[in-house]
Amino acid sequence: MREARRAGAEAADCGPKLDPLVDAARDRAALASMAWAVDRLGGDSPAAATMAADLSADARAIVGRWLDELRRSGHLSADIRWVSAPPSRAEVDRAWAEALALAPDPGAGGALTRFFAACSRNLPALLTGEVRLQSLLFDQDDIAAEIYRTNEASRYTNAAAAEVVRARCRGVLRSGRTPQVLEVGGGVGGTTEAVLDTVRDLPLRYHFTDVGDWFVTRACTHWAGRAGLSAGILDINDASERQREALGDLAGGIDVVLAANVMHNAVDVSSSLRILADLCRPEAALALIETGTEHLPLLISMRFLMTLPPPGSGIGGDRTRTGRTLLDTTDWSEVVAASGWDLLDVLPGPDDDHPAARYDQHVWHAVRAPKETDR
Ligand SMILES: C[S@@+](CC[C@H](N)C(=O)[O-])C[C@H]1O[C@@H](n2cnc3c(N)ncnc32)[C@H](O)[C@@H]1O
Repeated sequence: MREARRAGAEAADCGPKLDPLVDAARDRAALASMAWAVDRLGGDSPAAATMAADLSADARAIVGRWLDELRRSGHLSADIRWVSAPPSRAEVDRAWAEALALAPDPGAGGALTRFFAACSRNLPALLTGEVRLQSLLFDQDDIAAEIYRTNEASRYTNAAAAEVVRARCRGVLRSGRTPQVLEVGGGVGGTTEAVLDTVRDLPLRYHFTDVGDWFVTRACTHWAGRAGLSAGILDINDASERQREALGDLAGGIDVVLAANVMHNAVDVSSSLRILADLCRPEAALALIETGTEHLPLLISMRFLMTLPPPGSGIGGDRTRTGRTLLDTTDWSEVVAASGWDLLDVLPGPDDDHPAARYDQHVWHAVRAPKETDR
């Protein structure tokens, strides 16, 4: 969709751009953080780090992913031995100080770099659950804003998704109906904000949902007074009947589904996408935002909020075995097209030379696949 691509590119262009040197410095510091934490857990035998006492199965999976990345980057040999001495805490802190010196300003990479550095210092406590990631993430407002709203890639994907929502709403309005939008996993509303801004001149019903009470309550107060907006709990892992119950009269009448950075939480992505398709009207649009790469800083930070699905081999392989929580971009395209939706576009395309593409964050734009019962 040309308008969505243009809106994304314009939004990405408008605001701070992250120097690739910052990304490289954060990657180096994240790897050093993993090496430091693995060394603390495993000592001479890094492979033993995943067996350390006090670790939950989730924490062991995280350490397992760190071992993969340390092997890939040459810090560990193929047989999981240190190639060179792992860094001291002081060396890790120096690596973060270097990254921060390249991105000092909040809003332009600074808030996020400070957050990653705080995660790095807290890795042992994050692994045992003594410190919860949320306490670091919501420490300052600008951290969440930088993750979901103000960075270049989010500006692109949020604006492109907003344009997808707007186009479908305008189509529905032309047919004489009031469009009904469902957002799942709305969270702190980074994408919601961009979408509501883009459709502010259109009459519509916008139902914001999340599995977390806190986010739903926040949405009710944050957008109090906004005509057409409602908020409620919805769990994308619930059975279809339960989701229908939660949505009441909206079930079966949805014209647009917006799912930003949430579908990777589905235990069975295909089944959750299919349930969403079944909640929609014919020709409904899907705007799905996901990231195809588990970036190194993510593996020492947001990864602590994600849980691996139980063993099984759906699209993307058995994530319990690979330890990956995110599907890659090819898998996302495949799973969307196999789960009740016809895929129209991926924005930016995986091979686009747009700078936002280097974060491997995209919008999958799809339309609900026609069904026998539509006629
Ligand atoms: C990474 S945040 C994304 C927030 C927001 N969509 C954005 O991109 O600005 C993921 C959100 O998904 C929600 N979530 C996690 N598991 C969920 C589930 N099973 N059903 C619905 N929402 C879920 C979390 O509570 C959180 O708010």
